[in-house]
Amino acid sequence: MITMYDAINSKYTYKGTDVLKNKLGIKDEELLKEYETRMVAFKIATISTQTLKMDYTPERLKFIHKYLFEDIFYFAGEYRQENITKGNFRFSEFEYIEDNIKQIFSKINIEEMKKMPFKDFIIRLSYIMTELNVLHPFREGNGRTIRELIREICFDCGYVIDWYEINHDDILKASIKAVFDETEQIKMLRRSVKKIV
Ligand SMILES: Nc1ncnc2c1ncn2[C@@H]1O[C@H](COP(=O)(O)OP(=O)(O)OP(=O)(O)O)[C@@H](O)[C@H]1O
Ligand SMILES: [Mg+2]
Repeated sequence: MITMYDAINSKYTYKGTDVLKNKLGIKDEELLKEYETRMVAFKIATISTQTLKMDYTPERLKFIHKYLFEDIFYFAGEYRQENITKGNFRFSEFEYIEDNIKQIFSKINIEEMKKMPFKDFIIRLSYIMTELNVLHPFREGNGRTIRELIREICFDCGYVIDWYEINHDDILKASIKAVFDETEQIKMLRRSVKKIV
């Protein structure tokens, strides 16, 4: 969770609250979460049946974020402009997002990844996931955006992953641990990524 102190001082929240300013005009956190979850789930269901004809550049991640969140947040498709923490973890300084994200995307090379043995493919996938999470380019909605990108990389390399088959808490725990040790996340990916037959 973003601490109340951080969120209250955020330019993205309604004054004196930790509720993110939103296009729905909802000022109740629970209610916003409920609407957001449902609306985004619908968008994820739609985007995941399509094949994006876009190169793997940071623009692609922005596009996914915009698509998923444009009905809810004004910052959809745009990098965050303030620093954020969750639990005890402070994500990358926002000033470095632009540079760091290019570095991460340089590791997404579909032709190279297609040829990798499964074991190495999974290690690379986990690396991309962790690096993007630590960078946390958006103010909100990073997990879902990153998971959709990972799904697309898998698909373009001849694999499928259905994130809804995995318990959300398990994904969360694995990705939090992955900041220090990717073992659990790698195991989770190894179990869940399947070759397209
Ligand atoms: N303490 C933490 N340390 C490192 N990463 C964390 C921590 N807590 C959460 N995360 C990561 O942040 C993601 C959530 O970020 P954010 O809220 O921006 O995305 P989301 O799409 O709304 O959430 P979710 O991934 O739960 O669906 C989690 O999936 C996890 O990867
Ligand atoms: Mg969230």
